[in-house]
Amino acid sequence: MYRELLPQIAALIAGETDTVANMANVAAALQQSFHFFWTGFYVVKGENLVLAPFQGPVACTRIGYGKGVCGTAWKEARTIIVPDVEQFPGHIACNAASRSEIVVPLFRCGQVVAVLDIDSDTPDAFNAIDAAALEQIAVWLTTDATTTSK
Ligand code: SME
Repeated sequence: MYRELLPQIAALIAGETDTVANMANVAAALQQSFHFFWTGFYVVKGENLVLAPFQGPVACTRIGYGKGVCGTAWKEARTIIVPDVEQFPGHIACNAASRSEIVVPLFRCGQVVAVLDIDSDTPDAFNAIDAAALEQIAVWLTTDATTTSK
């Protein structure tokens, strides 16, 4: 599925320089292909991750540095796959239906500037293939072709 989807996402992003617009379409494209429970972005603003474009149910608006899966991915500056959210200490349950999760940081100049967060209502839904594909999308969203505006 990613083999078909990635070129489409690359084309979507290539035609637009606004990061929020690109995040919105990436969330929509991923959600339409995979029907995840929740797909979206949180953007670093000061001491918090703040809710950004997403697809799915309403979610927590702010997540602190080092808090939950998203805040941990920010702090550790790495992709985190959680096969069972109940086993992740400090997991933030925006919705009780979420069973597994992947969080991929977006970097600019070596700093985490946002995260892509995907929740599934089935356990163990994410693997290294998801991580690699989503990390590629994260790079496209922050390359020079796209704007630095927040
Ligand atoms: N579960 C996330 C919070 C964000 S929601 O899943 C959309 C976390 O623990 O960081």
